[in-house]
Amino acid sequence: MNLILLGPPGAGKGTQAERMSALYGIPHISTGDIFRENLKKGTELGLKAKEYMDRGELVPDEVVIGIVRERLAEPDCETGFILDGFPRTVAQADALKEMLAETGRAIDHVLNVQVPDEVVVERLTARRTCRSCGAVYHLKFNPPRVEGKCDSCGGELYVRDDDREETVRARLREYRAKTQPLIEYYRSEGLLRDVDGGASMDEVLASIRKILL
Ligand code: AP5
Ligand code: MG
Ligand code: ZN
Repeated sequence: MNLILLGPPGAGKGTQAERMSALYGIPHISTGDIFRENLKKGTELGLKAKEYMDRGELVPDEVVIGIVRERLAEPDCETGFILDGFPRTVAQADALKEMLAETGRAIDHVLNVQVPDEVVVERLTARRTCRSCGAVYHLKFNPPRVEGKCDSCGGELYVRDDDREETVRARLREYRAKTQPLIEYYRSEGLLRDVDGGASMDEVLASIRKILL
């Protein structure tokens, strides 16, 4: 099963992708997570991506496309994958189609996770992320058992630099200008499936499971 999770920042793409990955046994590929891991290791890629991420802007297509091409060539993607946060531009979507076709693959479903802007801001300003393993929490909707500590690895929880309200607003503008056109792109290909991302985490997962039956 080859899947794309499409949706604005804070829609819950990462949260659902983690659960789906455990449920269906296919890898969760988040380009944002790849950039953050690179930044943690201090690689050139991480430092370059940070310039854009801190402004709430998209990293240039040629950088992102190369990374995804390499990742999708790994053996664990043979039985399927969940792309989270890629593609985000029409150029990325075209490149993805091409790289999959080269290996006789195609996208099966594009899950369009929809949430209003106010919900996005509420979710992101109270999000906490684990510095060691990347696990995601929310102070109100999914709090860690011990304040400031990751349930699964005990790592320190931090606020992502791009989760400040003004950067969240910039990310929303970028989403609307560059990523939203992909809704029509995939609708016209008959791949788009709308998901109400404003419901609880369990309800969202239930509606995704119904679509993927
Ligand atoms: P990326 O890391 O992908 O960020 P994003 O798309 O802005 O999305 P988020 O990770 O913020 O939100 P999410 O939808 O995963 O929500 P989550 O599950 O965490 O990208 C970051 C940056 O990297 C970009 O701005 C760009 O610069 C760059 N980049 C990445 N990919 C790129 C690409 N392809 N091209 C160019 N640049 C790229 O949930 C959010 C919060 O809400 C959490 O606290 C969670 O606990 C909570 N929550 C989740 N679901 C629910 C629910 N149902 N009810 C209540 N709370 C919920
Ligand atoms: Mg995410
Ligand atoms: Zn952790």
